[in-house]
Amino acid sequence: MFRYLLPSIVLVIAYSSKQHSAVLSSIAFSLVGYVVTDLLIPRVGNSFIKIGLYGKDLSKVGRPVIPECIGAICAAVYILLMMFCIPFMFYKYMVTTTSGGGIRDISTESYQLTDNLFPHAKLSEYLSSLLCLESTALLGIADDLFDLRWRHKFFLPAIGAIPLLVVYYVDFGATHVLIPGFMQNWLQRTNLDLGALYYMYMMSMTIFCPNSINILAGVNGLEVGQSIVLGILALLNDSLYLTMGPQTSWESHRFSAIIILPFLGVSAALWKWNRWPAKVFVGDTYCYFAGMIFAVVGILGHFSKTMLLLFLPQILNFLYSCPQLFHIVPCPRHRLPRFDENDGLLYPSITNLKETPAKKFFQPVLRALHVLKLIHVEFVNGEIVSCTNMTLINLVLVWLGPMREDRLCNTILQLQFVVGVVAIIARHALGALLFGHDNLWAIV
Ligand code: UD1
Ligand code: MG
Repeated sequence: MFRYLLPSIVLVIAYSSKQHSAVLSSIAFSLVGYVVTDLLIPRVGNSFIKIGLYGKDLSKVGRPVIPECIGAICAAVYILLMMFCIPFMFYKYMVTTTSGGGIRDISTESYQLTDNLFPHAKLSEYLSSLLCLESTALLGIADDLFDLRWRHKFFLPAIGAIPLLVVYYVDFGATHVLIPGFMQNWLQRTNLDLGALYYMYMMSMTIFCPNSINILAGVNGLEVGQSIVLGILALLNDSLYLTMGPQTSWESHRFSAIIILPFLGVSAALWKWNRWPAKVFVGDTYCYFAGMIFAVVGILGHFSKTMLLLFLPQILNFLYSCPQLFHIVPCPRHRLPRFDENDGLLYPSITNLKETPAKKFFQPVLRALHVLKLIHVEFVNGEIVSCTNMTLINLVLVWLGPMREDRLCNTILQLQFVVGVVAIIARHALGALLFGHDNLWAIV
């Protein structure tokens, strides 16, 4: 495999630098990311176990011990690769601003940049993204090492996002949002300055994306699988803009593609080792790191609302989890499905409500959810004694019945993909209806 991959990588890098195409270089770096991560994972596993970074696979006979926190390898390879990517990304600016005569004084782009100046703002945007991803990965490692309590670790990604938000403030400071066409006459304006609220919104995005991936977890391959599907969907959206959209939207979608492609490379290697039956666990490090990739791309690419549409299954899982997250219904340490050793299938896991019942005001809601088949509740003499844990994973099992772990993971990934494609289509159809035009169709 390595024998065939290496020459193709060298070829793509050589071709992309000749074409001055940052996206092509990014594809090559993505391949490098795959190969390096795939080589490293099996070689570091035992060292992770030796220092106590391991977890028990709760859905296997005998609960085998496997390395945890392997997402740290992905994050390290990714960040290093993205550093090497910088000259490729900015090559076109380097050739137009470097003195020395010859063709170096001629722009390689069809449009000229203002005064042919090197775009330091773009570079700082890129570096702040890397800094943000680096601090997020470090905080994720801290979480995997110390197994922090949920109420503390929930806000960790917001700390990791500080470099991003500070550079955003200093560099752009754009806090305007477009007002939908049908409200423009009524409000007598086309956009609204949200000021500090916009920073709150960005901060919420950096908290939501990482945590929402972390709580849609507990089945081999699901954390990394959903991140790969999200990456493919975001790339699909980018490719629509890069092929059909106006030139004004190219920069942000090229930035998005450049960030996401190498992420897909390192994630594909992790998927190989984490898919059923898992040889390694990704750890919270990977969940935070992956979530932050999408938050960064959404924020700096100015399409955070579209990004949130792709996160629809995660949003539903979060809303559905709220009664347990806010302790209205007791929340056990693990809500992953229950494994039955006899048939090797996963069943919905339950939370015991005999000793610690759900809050009184919520009991009618539990009954209603049971009638609507949104949870399964067990009654003894009319009293609620248990209910299924409120996660999308358990809900799939309540609806479709028990199934093997790999089938469960694939079902959720397919659901994520279908919902994402429908969301992208709806976004571009509704965008035109709501705002009078859609960025994608602005050219026509
Ligand atoms: C989140 C979920 C928790 C779920 C856990 C599984 C919430 C509030 N928290 O907690 O309900 O049980 O993720 O990752 O929704 N594990 C497996 N198989 C897997 C993945 C994980 O058995 O495919 C187990 C392993 O023992 C592993 C542990 O889960 O060591 C990792 O749990 P951790 O990521 O620390 O849990 P949280 O993110 O806190
Ligand atoms: Mg986790």
